[in-house]
Amino acid sequence: MIRHLRAAGTSLVLDASGPGVPVIVYWGADLGAQDAVDLSSLARASMPPVGPSSLDVPVRLSLLPTLAEGWSGRPGLGGFRPSVGQIDLAFECVAVREEAANTVAIDLVDRHASVSVRIDLELTVQGVLRLQHALTNTGETPFELSALDVILPIPDRAQELLDFTGLWSHERRPQRSVLGHGVWSRESRHGRPGHDDSFLTVVGTPGFGFRQGEVWAVHEAWSGDKRVWVERSALGHAAVGAGELLAPGEVSLAGGESYRSPWTIAVYSGAGLDGLSARLHPWIRSWSTVTGPRPVVLNTWEAVYFDHDLETLSRLVTAAASVGVERFVLDDGWFSGRTDDQRALGDWFVDATSWPNGLHPLIERVQSAGLDFGLWVEPEMVNPDSNLARAHPDWLLGSAAAPTWRGQRVLDLGNPEAFAWLFERLTALLSDYPIAYLKWDHNRDLLGGSSHRQTIALYKLLDALRAAQPGLEIESCASGGGRIDLGILGRVDRVWTSDTNDPLERQQIQRYTGVLVPPEYLGSHLGAATAHTTGRASALGFRLATALFGSAGIEWDLTQASEAERDQIRAWITIYKQQRALLHSGTVVHADGSDPAIELHGVVAADQSSAVFAHVALAAPRTALPAQIRFPGLDPARRYQVRPLVVGPLPRTLQTVAPLWLADGVVLSGAILARVGLAAPLLTPEQAILFTVDAV
Ligand code: DGJ
Repeated sequence: MIRHLRAAGTSLVLDASGPGVPVIVYWGADLGAQDAVDLSSLARASMPPVGPSSLDVPVRLSLLPTLAEGWSGRPGLGGFRPSVGQIDLAFECVAVREEAANTVAIDLVDRHASVSVRIDLELTVQGVLRLQHALTNTGETPFELSALDVILPIPDRAQELLDFTGLWSHERRPQRSVLGHGVWSRESRHGRPGHDDSFLTVVGTPGFGFRQGEVWAVHEAWSGDKRVWVERSALGHAAVGAGELLAPGEVSLAGGESYRSPWTIAVYSGAGLDGLSARLHPWIRSWSTVTGPRPVVLNTWEAVYFDHDLETLSRLVTAAASVGVERFVLDDGWFSGRTDDQRALGDWFVDATSWPNGLHPLIERVQSAGLDFGLWVEPEMVNPDSNLARAHPDWLLGSAAAPTWRGQRVLDLGNPEAFAWLFERLTALLSDYPIAYLKWDHNRDLLGGSSHRQTIALYKLLDALRAAQPGLEIESCASGGGRIDLGILGRVDRVWTSDTNDPLERQQIQRYTGVLVPPEYLGSHLGAATAHTTGRASALGFRLATALFGSAGIEWDLTQASEAERDQIRAWITIYKQQRALLHSGTVVHADGSDPAIELHGVVAADQSSAVFAHVALAAPRTALPAQIRFPGLDPARRYQVRPLVVGPLPRTLQTVAPLWLADGVVLSGAILARVGLAAPLLTPEQAILFTVDAV
């Protein structure tokens, strides 16, 4: 049987005609109508020859490649049976079923090794491919699993690689390389994806950009240890692979037990990185937990740090309400004994010294100012200097002799008593106080215990809390953007993109985090003029223009802002409220420019009737007169009015005379705006100008 799955410009052809493990013979641009494709000829024509000094049959990459198939690249499965020792795994395919449109379930068995695997594969209507393996030990003695990975073929023309690295406050730094022979493998051993997470691994035709080039991307929807790799062999095969990174002995399956891998998400685009987002974002939105407009947040962290008292925070509430903030989030520092970042994690009771009457007086002020209330927690963490650690040292993961990290250790969520205690504490807080939102932090690597067990328990905890408290929103934070992945995204409504509020850093972090994650998830805050993480000073207009393109908020002591600054912030919040329906539902686009100092990005409404763009100068341009601004993603046949969207003073420029069109805007077709573009204003470095684009 040969299956052709088609969706949203993508085709996948699966050859399940033989007795062995099915093979993807094609994954890429749409091949056209089902009945126009002669599937058996296609499969036959792609059967490779038998080469010299090789196996006596053609070798193809199957959906679960093993040595027994002649696959000498990284295999899809690793494991052994201690009672037997090493075993050679060789599967036969016993069933292929289409249980719903564009989904295929494949059953494989290795009768000799007493192992079966079910593969689930789906090409969603948005063109996103997802695969998952489930392995069952059908024998009677334990089976030790070391890897169960998804591996997908990529074509020879995918010669260039883009993935990400990063560090605290500088997440999602892109890195590019040319694929040689061998394995380029990225591993996360942090017990969370980490700041250096490979995030989205993209291979493509040389020079691919945001708007051009063919690209194939893979992401592992998992919040624990994982690996993603690209392999090109001297034999001519090339593949991308991904799976959970299992430690020795971490998954030991007794007879009859199963292990299910996380979903591996894979996307093809013939139109660069924006083409990936154009499939990923609608798909994520189809299952997203996000409901309703994303409220403007005020988060207290960089405003007051641990300096909590009712009067200080009440002044902040009043200032926040006066500019139009909708949610007040009390960050770290509110719980028993938490005077700095070295103690009290685990003691999830409101601190009686700072809050003699509990949080009620503060929440009453928040609510009477018309805002809802959010609270910071870091439930998976415990400071040794806490009542919890003193009472239950056995609830902590890893060795007591191992060094702490930010003075903290990890609560073993896989311990049922610890789990039950934590669940009770969190639900007690949620019922004692009207909490609309939890900022859920995670400020250290695990470095001990089982990442697998901890991640499963975390998901169970989040699921149980959401079920117990319908409507509760949760933000995933891990020292900023250390835990942003599509496993956690199904359980949270926002991610804290990075601890840096420096707009220059943020432009890049949001640009690349946003390739995978839709903007409505990306917490983006207006910080103080001098960024706390970098010491760099930025103009208010640049900070505001940057924070607009996400789930916007403020993290600054607004009581210190001048009247003029507050007026500008109020105007910005008004614009955010007017535009957020578009910003959080539209198509994210970027122009491919020739000058890395100048960027244009925007969001175009799904019906292409309007858009908001930001033209950003990150540094001094290469030329005195920068290139024309070209607007991608509009309908070429419609006419649009382009106007500057000014919040407060105009951005700083070097020009003696501004481009003529800027005075009253201009009306041109989408085709002209994309191909010819408009003369760009001469922004000084670290400035941005916003434009609205509306069909007329
Ligand atoms: C790390 C987070 O990323 C910050 O935003 C803040 O919540 C601190 N933790 C609080 O300890």
